[in-house]
Amino acid sequence: MRVAITGGTGFVGRHLATRLDPAETVVVSRRTGVDIDDVDALTGAFRDCEASGPLRRDQP
Ligand SMILES: NC(=O)c1ccc[n+]([C@@H]2O[C@H](COP(=O)([O-])OP(=O)(O)OC[C@H]3O[C@@H](n4cnc5c(N)ncnc54)[C@H](OP(=O)(O)O)[C@@H]3O)[C@@H](O)[C@H]2O)c1
Repeated sequence: MRVAITGGTGFVGRHLATRLDPAETVVVSRRTGVDIDDVDALTGAFRDCEASGPLRRDQP
């Protein structure tokens, strides 16, 4: 199962990533070239993914 991890380079996301198959994991962050405010980039990152987490982001 292919999984997208938003915030995947952060504290929570990188720990989650260690528990998943790297070949089936899409790490979403600005460092990996995907800003969650960019709908096209996010749509591309989520393509073929069946699950994602964590989605919440703190408001400024
Ligand atoms: N840490 C905890 O103990 C804890 C506990 C409960 C809940 N939470 C919640 O879990 C969430 C993540 O916490 P964390 O501690 O892992 O935070 P963190 O270490 O600051 O990580 C934030 C992640 O979000 C990414 N990010 C920020 N803005 C982005 C954007 N515009 N587009 C794409 N990616 C973006 C960052 O990567 P880039 O900078 O490369 O974009 C990074 O990967 C937060 O909502 C927090 O409130 C955390």
